[in-house]
Order: sequence, then structure tokens, then C-alpha cells
Amino acid sequence: MRRITLTQYLVEQQREKGVVSAELRLLIEVVARACKSISNAVSKGALTGILGNAGSDNVQGEAQKKLDVISNEVLLEANEWGGHLAAMASEEMEHPHQIPNRYPRGEYLLLMDPLDGSSNIDVNVSIGTIFSVLRCPEGVTPDEQAFLQPGSKQVAAGFAVYGPSTILVLTVGNGVAGFTLDRELGSWVLTEPKIEIPADTAEFAINMSNRRNWSAPIIRYIDECLAGKTGPLGKDYNMRWVASMVADVYRILSRGGIFMYPQDAKHKEGRLRLMYEANPMAMIVEQAGGAATNGTQRILDVQPTKLHQRVGVILGSRNEVERVTGYHKAG
Ligand code: AHG
Ligand code: MN
Ligand code: MN
Repeated sequence: MRRITLTQYLVEQQREKGVVSAELRLLIEVVARACKSISNAVSKGALTGILGNAGSDNVQGEAQKKLDVISNEVLLEANEWGGHLAAMASEEMEHPHQIPNRYPRGEYLLLMDPLDGSSNIDVNVSIGTIFSVLRCPEGVTPDEQAFLQPGSKQVAAGFAVYGPSTILVLTVGNGVAGFTLDRELGSWVLTEPKIEIPADTAEFAINMSNRRNWSAPIIRYIDECLAGKTGPLGKDYNMRWVASMVADVYRILSRGGIFMYPQDAKHKEGRLRLMYEANPMAMIVEQAGGAATNGTQRILDVQPTKLHQRVGVILGSRNEVERVTGYHKAG
């Protein structure tokens, strides 16, 4: 069987489908290479002393893990000099990172959650990297304002999962493909050419410990799931919560499901970040035939007002996401 690598896939998207420019292809390849290097660091774990806290807080006031800091640096260094970027923004940095004057600048903006699932690093559970690519508006300085574009403007989005195998999921706006890292060859091999999320599901993902803080529509839906076969939904549901969005979303891409981190009384604006988590995942999920809303609005239509904005997230199998969103609209 012919093995197709990430580069070959992107060249084909560029040549035959016309959805990828040469610059965007090279940019994605650089991000994917950085993910390989993060994957290597992750897999060495305690051997190289990369577990544990870094002793600092990020802009959101969350304690940074050593791997949060290392991953952020790997991505910045890999992408600085390639010439495809106008600037980068990261969950781990308060302000956008400008491309140093000594390097050429390009037309794209890169956004990233360098290490997603930090609470799972030290317990050897899957973690990952999420990224999103926007175009820098022409003639505009790539400051914070330039990044504040709705997710519908993303030209590419993807994420890596550092799990039993290392996986890269990617969309360039023409469906979703999955690649597996072949460590011996050092290449990303196309293993899932067309990922599609089934419209129906009997599996939900939510942090149940937040139940007392939830809004009425979320309580209604989860209670209906828990009621199983004899309840209004007429089937038994299963629950999964990895607490790494990358792993939870990858499961949904693999076999369907609904993932929720809604706004609630404790997380008034939501827990997850619009620009680094919700938007890239929403693009991927929609491109795979699923849906993504904040309860009342399509996530990709949300107009951001600040870089580190948070948002409620309900995404996955279309019919189930529409049901929960309908409950919000009903009242
Ligand atoms: P990060 O490690 O980048 O801060 O993101 C963690 C996120 C996400 O991956 C996960 O879905 C969620 O936080 C888990 O939150 P709880 O610990 O509240 O369950
Ligand atoms: Mn995250
Ligand atoms: Mn993170």
C-alpha cells in the first residue's frame, strides 16, 4: 500500500483542490515538525525532568507546567524564521509574539494552545497541542486587534495528541484528515483520509463535578442522558471525560459523541478559550460533519473582543448538539 505523508497530502490539497497556498503548506509543516519535537519531549517524561510545575503563572492566572513552557518555546522557535507568519499568539503569552526584525514576515497569524490537558501531564494521560491559522488583514500591524477575527475566517486548524500513538488531525477547509507519527521514519503518515462524525451518539463528555453550577438546559439534557432507555431520549448513554480536550475531541472524531464545557455559575464566560481551543476544534468538528455552539450561537460566528476570551463549548455529533442548543433557545 502506498503511504501518503503529510507533505504529499498538503501538496495534493494545493495542486488539485486549490485550498492551500505554498506558504500555508510550509507553515503547517513547520507546526507539525514542532509537534514531533514536543511529542519526543513528552515521551521521555521523568527521564529528562520535564514533569511538574514551572513555578510561574500564565496570563490566565493558571500555574504553568514545565511542559507548557517548553512547548510554547518549541513552537515559537520553530515558527519564527520561516517567513510565513506576521505574528503568533499563544494561551501562554499575554500579548502577541512579533516576528523579530531579522526574519522575513509573511501573511498568516498563528494561534496556539501549546500544551492542552496540563492536568494530565504528570499522570501519563494523553495531552496535545492545538493550533489555528488566520490571515493577517492587509496593511495592518499584527497587534492584538488583527487576531480578533471570528473562527469562520480560519484558513486551517489542527491538533496533535500525544497518546499511545502520536496523532495529528488537520483541516484546511476541505474535510478532516488524520496522520499518525511514524517515529522510525520521523514522518506523519496519512491514516485517516476522511474523518466523519456520526450525526447521532449515545456518549457524552462533561465534567460532572460542575453540576451544581450548570444552567437549566444543561441539567435537563444530562438528566435525560442519565435516565437512559426509559427516559425521553430512549437509549442508554455512556460517559467519558479525559479532561484533555484533544483526547475528548479525538474520541468524538473517531466514534461520535458530544463534548460540553458550558458557561455555568462558576465559569461565567466558559472555561475554554475561544481563540486557542474552541475555534480550531469547532472548525475541525464542522468540517467532519458535526456541530459546535456556545449554547445559543455557532462558535465560528462569535466575534472575539479579546485575545484570551473564554467561551462555552458544546460540540460533536450534530443531532445531539442541536438538541442541547434547542434547549437553550427554548428557555
Ligand atoms: P489547558 O491544559 O490548555 O489549560 O486546557 C485544559 C482544558 C481542556 O483540555 C479540558 O477539556 C479542560 O481544561 C479540563 O477542565 P477540568 O479540569 O475543569 O475538567
Ligand atoms: Mn487547553
Ligand atoms: Mn494549554
